[in-house]
Amino acid sequence: MILGFSTHKILPDRPRVNRQLLDQTQFPLLASLQTCANRRDAPFYTPGHKHGAGTPDGLRTLLGMPALQADLPELPDLDNLFAPQGVIQEAQELAAAAFGAEQTWFLTNGSTGGILAAILATCHPGDKIILARNMHQSAISGLVLAGAMPVFLQPEYDPQLDIAHSITPEAVTEALSAHPDARAVMMVSPTYYGVCGNVAAIAQRCHQYSIPLLVDEAHGSHFAFHPDLPTPALAAGADLSVQSIHKTLSALTQAAMLHVQGDRIERDRLTRTLALVQSTSPNYLLLASLDAARHQMATQGKKLLEQTLSLARQASAEIAQIPGLSLLTPDQAKTPGFTALDPTRLTVTVAGLGIDGFRADEILHNQFGVICELASLQHLTFIITPGNQATDIHRLVCALKSLPSPFSPSPSLLPPLSSLLSPLPSPLPPLSPRQAFCAPTETLPIAQATGHISTELICPYPPGIPVLMPGEVVTEAAIAYLQQVLAAGGIISGCSDPGLQTLKVVRM
Ligand SMILES: Cc1ncc(COP(=O)(O)O)c(C=O)c1O
Repeated sequence: MILGFSTHKILPDRPRVNRQLLDQTQFPLLASLQTCANRRDAPFYTPGHKHGAGTPDGLRTLLGMPALQADLPELPDLDNLFAPQGVIQEAQELAAAAFGAEQTWFLTNGSTGGILAAILATCHPGDKIILARNMHQSAISGLVLAGAMPVFLQPEYDPQLDIAHSITPEAVTEALSAHPDARAVMMVSPTYYGVCGNVAAIAQRCHQYSIPLLVDEAHGSHFAFHPDLPTPALAAGADLSVQSIHKTLSALTQAAMLHVQGDRIERDRLTRTLALVQSTSPNYLLLASLDAARHQMATQGKKLLEQTLSLARQASAEIAQIPGLSLLTPDQAKTPGFTALDPTRLTVTVAGLGIDGFRADEILHNQFGVICELASLQHLTFIITPGNQATDIHRLVCALKSLPSPFSPSPSLLPPLSSLLSPLPSPLPPLSPRQAFCAPTETLPIAQATGHISTELICPYPPGIPVLMPGEVVTEAAIAYLQQVLAAGGIISGCSDPGLQTLKVVRM
């Protein structure tokens, strides 16, 4: 019998862990999965491909038999993600100790699932939550699911680079005194550009109000393993952090972790909310990859990240010498919303060459096979991890050196964001995102949408700050701004009509 969600075998209570005794050289979940994959049982359980025997040839060739033989369900030796008492619990305890948490949950639905669960676990319908306006869209989905009312804070904005950084402790203090009934504060740190906010000061402000600080640390899972990297959110005092172990460490895509410390988060409720947002058939390849990534970092992380940092420093130094290019650097980390920079994240400004980031990305991709993580109007962002080799850095630098410089440097074509930034017209929208999401909608020509309530989340890149959220009143300024971004060649995500000729609003 397999340990399905509803049929799991109850094992006797395990004694509490003594962290000193945890052996980080072990990988209990990976080892158990390997043992099960080596067994030649008669499989009358899911998945239907039965250890790869029923897998179509093309897929079998792509994945290889070892991966298919390890694609197993909740067999007795493999524990149960939603009631762990065996190897998953052991692997999670090892991860908690390695990442500096009191308790860690493995996630098979990315940081997305962790962010949804964090909001559901802290907010009841109608509760207020203070959060950065440049949160990932999963946070907005979390608001829809929880029925929470957002109090949005504008992140600090660098008009020269056209990049949104973190929210500031001052903005959080102001919001907390205006909304002392808020249930939590949520921020993103580091941002996609590797910029970290002042998590320590913001955590302190939250704790004065006895509420938790939730940090979307999707891009910062490597921070705990090298002293030259920014301080991890938990070490800075956050109550909960969510990390995409697949983004900057070696886990498989979608594998992530949620970490908690202290007693401001109701852990039972968090466990239940995680079960709401994840499959009851978690993929063991993903789970085992989390165990392996933790083992790799706990046993060799400092050495591996030393090499990564050295590659990143070498790349930065060489790129800085290329005429027309500049980099986001740690010495720019001097403002309340930008207190540290992840040195393994390279944001290269190409605007000085007179070409935009999208064109530069196309050239690097098509002519050099060099592929960045993120292209925006002025910049290209590259992620360097222990998986990169010196040859990758060499190809990157050579490709950047070959970028054409057809014109003299041009200023950003984007309209100034200042009209849309602080203060927000009203930090509290007339409808919650959930009320707007569930309301009957109508599609209006854009010229007639002003004054109606948006059901769409519309976000221009750059700088990645949503201009319209579900539940907010559509203003003329917001529409004009979005139209100018489109005209300038920027990208707008989230709208049902990408040309922005129409907008979906709440039917009045
Ligand atoms: C800042 C941020 N948070 C959360 C997420 C969601 O992470 P995942 O892809 O692991 O679900 C992303 C994804 O890109 C992100 O950039």
